[in-house]
Amino acid sequence: MTDTLTLTRPDDWHIHFRDGAAMRSVIADTARVFGRAIVMPNLKPPVVSVADAEAYRNRLGEATAGSAFQPLMTLYLTDNTRAEEILRAKASGFVHAVKYYPAGATTNSDSGVTDLAKAAEAIAAMEACGLPLLLHGEVTHSEVDIFDREAVFIEQHLAPLLRNYPRLNVVLEHITTRQAAEFVAAAPANVAATITAHHLLYNRNALFQGGIRPHMYCLPVLKREPHRLALVEAAVSGNPKFFLGTDSAPHATGSKESSCGCAGIYTAHAAIELYAEAFEDAGALDRLEAFASFHGADFYGLPRNSDRITLKRETWTVPQQLPMGEDFLTPLRAGESLRWKVV
Ligand code: NCD
Ligand code: ZN
Repeated sequence: MTDTLTLTRPDDWHIHFRDGAAMRSVIADTARVFGRAIVMPNLKPPVVSVADAEAYRNRLGEATAGSAFQPLMTLYLTDNTRAEEILRAKASGFVHAVKYYPAGATTNSDSGVTDLAKAAEAIAAMEACGLPLLLHGEVTHSEVDIFDREAVFIEQHLAPLLRNYPRLNVVLEHITTRQAAEFVAAAPANVAATITAHHLLYNRNALFQGGIRPHMYCLPVLKREPHRLALVEAAVSGNPKFFLGTDSAPHATGSKESSCGCAGIYTAHAAIELYAEAFEDAGALDRLEAFASFHGADFYGLPRNSDRITLKRETWTVPQQLPMGEDFLTPLRAGESLRWKVV
């Protein structure tokens, strides 16, 4: 049995840092382990311009001063995003992608796109200049069952999008279904996907284990076991289309333990350790490095990190609460144990 694991320093290709005091509380969890992270733009108000992204990047930089961590910025696609903003983003060198949220799909997505056709000019510019489009791949129609929203999005929106923009670089974010894993695997090389640790480790039973579990609720919601198994298979396959994106999404404990709790699971405190568990359970620890440290950088056309991190087999207990600004959040596995630890 392997007791230490040394990897090229990984990157997180999908994270929510929030802003202000909350951001300053959580960002160290990521910066301690990851070299870079693709930073989601769903602030209130969202990051819609290169100027917004630059200001946010400066705040993230101040909060991580003295560390080598690099935030990779994204813009929030709206019905009003103009091609010239896309070209400015590409030219900036620090905006690495544009995020698509269907309006109303998830936390802070009110400014999202109401119809992909309205974003045609911006998407054409992304295709032309090579700026990736990151998709929250769920439809929002209330008549579609919540467990089917990703699969329906793939059929109704993703497949036509790729027919209209065949050279567009696309990342289907936080995939949760067998349909998504199969679609991405079969698509050309310009289509990739991120996979979270929690979707590799849990199926939807975790939402209802002995009672309702608000800290296991995220979007896209956890799915049935066969879907989890398909995600594990994709993650450990060695296929460069699949890479690490935690979707770590901090919410104060009180806003999750509520009659209408927010979507989002916090995993940044133990992200690589959680992935190590998932890969070890699949008998594929030797595949973790490529998934965590190579495939994402290669897809984004960035150099791989050159330094390394080491994990040790060591049982430790996750704190019940972690600070989040003036408040507290409940991390994944709160009060429970983990079997790997970054040294
Ligand atoms: C994210 C958040 O809280 O910002 N929540 C989540 O459940 N993943 C938004 C998102 O990525 O959907
Ligand atoms: Zn997210």
